[in-house]
Amino acid sequence: MAGSETEPATTRKRGLFVSFEGGDGAGKSTQINRLADRLREQGYAVTVSREPGGTPGAEAVRHVVLDTSAAEPFGPYLEAMLFAAARNDHVEQKIRPALQKGHVVLVDRFMDSTRVYQGASENLDPAFLETLERVAVAGVIPDLTIILDLPPEEGLKRAHARRDPDAQADRYEKEDVAAHEVRREAFLDIARREPERCRVVDASGTPDEVAGQVWEIVQDVVAKAGLATGSDSPWNDDDPVIRRLGFRK
Ligand code: TYD
Repeated sequence: MAGSETEPATTRKRGLFVSFEGGDGAGKSTQINRLADRLREQGYAVTVSREPGGTPGAEAVRHVVLDTSAAEPFGPYLEAMLFAAARNDHVEQKIRPALQKGHVVLVDRFMDSTRVYQGASENLDPAFLETLERVAVAGVIPDLTIILDLPPEEGLKRAHARRDPDAQADRYEKEDVAAHEVRREAFLDIARREPERCRVVDASGTPDEVAGQVWEIVQDVVAKAGLATGSDSPWNDDDPVIRRLGFRK
């Protein structure tokens, strides 16, 4: 799909890049872990990661940008640049190398989160964001983007329920239902504009039900990609950064 058209032949990937998007509390990390297990059972090499983060440099940026006290004074333009800088490091240090090794790469949030959280919520200049996106992804565009769709009230309820009572809400989780609704619509709008790349999944069911829908979509795309399977496929998410983040093998 889109990624292979924009990459120069010398860096053309052999793996498959799948991003997961959606509002807070939509269940992305649960679904990514379940999908990773299922793909591995079938012999695929899988790399799991997240944004902002996924590499030591990008995790350092994450710490700055999601910290309420540090990030708000930056303003939305600098913040968008920080997400982009973290993304480019993640792409070059981790995603592109994993794709070149033939992995299925599953990432919790990618470029659509910037389009939605900075673009739609903060109303940043679309031309600025397009340029920034092009530089950040450097030709590495997801083959498939799964958008987990949930009514904002339900997402907020889940986000509250999973949070440690002593932990502080991150700055995006503190916003109200109306802000979540804007983001939900913005994700759905991306899906309408790029139906080749994006699939919307109703995330309001049980984890099993949602995992079933995700698998229906992914199994076809994986089969068409013709990836290698087998015991010689290296798993590379025994990476200490990802282990620390709680993504399990
Ligand atoms: P995280 O705790 O990972 O939340 P979630 O479980 O909802 O993914 O925090 C990531 C937050 O960063 C999330 O609220 C969305 C925001 N974000 C952006 O604003 N722009 C971006 O480009 C990315 C990747 C994330």
